[in-house]
Amino acid sequence: MSSQIDHLLDETRRFAPPAEFAADAVATAELYEEAQADREAFWADQARRLLHWHTPFTEVLDWTTPPFAKWFADGELNIAYNCLDRHVEGGHGDRIALLWEGEQGDDRRVTYAELTDEVKRLANVLTDLGVGEGDRVAIYMPMIPEAIAAMLAVVRIGAIHSVVFGGFSADSLRFRIDDAGAKVVITADGGYRKGKVSPLKPAVDLALADRNGSGAQETVEKVLVVKRGGNDVEWTHGRDIWWHDVVPQASSVHEAQAFGAENPLFILYTSGTTGKPKGILHTSGGYLTQAAFTNQVVHDIHPASDVYWCTADIGWITGHTYVTYGPLANGATQVIYEGTPDTPHPGRWWEIVQKYGVTVLYTAPTAIRSFMKIGRSVPKQFDLSSLRLLGSVGEPINPEAWMWYRKIIGGKTAPIVDTWWQTETGAIMISALPGVTETKPGSAQVPLPGISVDVVDEDGQHVGNGNGGLLVVTEPWPSMLRGIWGDPERFKETYWDKFASQGYYFAGDGARLDDDGDVWLLGRVDDVMNVSGHRLSTTEIESSLVGNEAVAEAAVVGASDETTGQAVVAFVIIKESYLKEHSAEGLAQGLRSWVGEQIGPIARPRDVYIVGELPKTRSGKIMRRLLRDVAEGREVGDTTTLADTAVMSVISAQVK
Ligand code: WTA
Repeated sequence: MSSQIDHLLDETRRFAPPAEFAADAVATAELYEEAQADREAFWADQARRLLHWHTPFTEVLDWTTPPFAKWFADGELNIAYNCLDRHVEGGHGDRIALLWEGEQGDDRRVTYAELTDEVKRLANVLTDLGVGEGDRVAIYMPMIPEAIAAMLAVVRIGAIHSVVFGGFSADSLRFRIDDAGAKVVITADGGYRKGKVSPLKPAVDLALADRNGSGAQETVEKVLVVKRGGNDVEWTHGRDIWWHDVVPQASSVHEAQAFGAENPLFILYTSGTTGKPKGILHTSGGYLTQAAFTNQVVHDIHPASDVYWCTADIGWITGHTYVTYGPLANGATQVIYEGTPDTPHPGRWWEIVQKYGVTVLYTAPTAIRSFMKIGRSVPKQFDLSSLRLLGSVGEPINPEAWMWYRKIIGGKTAPIVDTWWQTETGAIMISALPGVTETKPGSAQVPLPGISVDVVDEDGQHVGNGNGGLLVVTEPWPSMLRGIWGDPERFKETYWDKFASQGYYFAGDGARLDDDGDVWLLGRVDDVMNVSGHRLSTTEIESSLVGNEAVAEAAVVGASDETTGQAVVAFVIIKESYLKEHSAEGLAQGLRSWVGEQIGPIARPRDVYIVGELPKTRSGKIMRRLLRDVAEGREVGDTTTLADTAVMSVISAQVK
């Protein structure tokens, strides 16, 4: 990490906001002053300005039982009404909400009126299926308009969605369905990925099939299926329902009822340091306030003229906040794309930017790096001149990638906002404000107005400019997680215990403050990896490996990778009997696919090394730091705390 810090210290390039951009920017420098003057009043203003409240709130923040916050608690609103009906009622029904592009090149334009209509019908269908306030609905879908409609219909009736990324396996889906106790699953037969239909319904069937031994009670009553892939599906009569058999026929009359601001909105599972994913719980009024605010000021959304495109899948928090909730609350027009960036050709994204005249693009460093690798000649074939603002999220963006993004994609003029936040924070926390902040390649820079962060040492003391430490959030914020589903203790332990005496939220990220006090993110400090901007836990993958009958022991580390940021590297000890019968290569290959099937392709290890021993301390803790050295091809660090100091030289030799 120290070489990384040194490297960043050399970065002195600065980019002032272009005057033309600043003149028309939504964000202004006054926002900082307003928030500074009275933080809570500032958020209350945003909540009133950006949202429609069926019952106005009189309370702003209730922090009497930390870490359980309540925002706007006596107010009532309907989230779907805010994202849909009010735009139609306000005369913008004909405005396009979704410019949908299928991987195959098929497309659909969905207006606010049409999306509202669809959501109302689906809300009626869900109600008929017995879904009501507080019930959980799992959504396992490709990136099609129905996925967004599904999220909004669920929350419209006060139910809670749990979106599961379509790339996750049946096992991962099963865990999430069971943990949340989902009553209904909304899915599709399949969706297009990499030129083929990737099946979804069969995974749902598998997840719901054999419960023997899992100890879980079957909670799922109905499975609602959109026909998209046209792939063959099996049908469980009485449980499975085609979307097209019920939604078009349902009534499009549905009045949005008001729910309390602290009504649960969704659960989204994310990897933690232990094997079990955490169900991060978000609620309504505070979440939507910060989602709409940040989308408006950080993405500089001018709803009447912008064509916004956030490339995230709805299976991740970025897809929740910056595809579904933020932009729709703001009445924006956005592109959604079903497929992969390189199908059927490597210029697919840039073709989409050109086709729709995208003005604001929000994506991840891993994508930018893979485009860099292919070379500038590909984006150069397309007209990208409509782009006026670029955003980055998910992991630190290295200055070289930032510069490439600016020059090749942004035509040397578009400001870049590097936005730091997490599933837990719900919305952007640290970012430049475009048109206001002078940007620095590689730095997320400053907390947003109304947000307070700090970089502290192990004792919770401010490290001071020029120093590195741990990133914390020092004051509650509207879109903060309200807990971990079903596990309040784990919520406290994971995020609040470390700096309990200060009452800080510990983000799990290392960071450095430069001489101006700007924040530079340095990656995770725990056993969480960041692969292509997605969080994976080392323990989760280790558990999967050990679950394979050939494996005796496993240790997983995240090794830096040029394209994906980090890559999964596994060190495994194979049982004697298997070693005799199988080649090392065959075993390694088999284990890679095993993890891919168990968790999902993103978790598939890049490398599997078969070793005879793992480096452990005297108390039996695996020293992953040393394995990371090996995985990254470095000289192995200090081994003096190992129980057996010779073990690392054996491992290094085996890996070579
Ligand atoms: C990392 C994604 C550096 C960080 C929205 C965080 C970042 C984790 C940035 C959350 C950024 C996200 N610069 N690191 N701009 N954005 N991260 O929950 O380690 O999928 O803790 O949320 O991604 O990942 P998550």
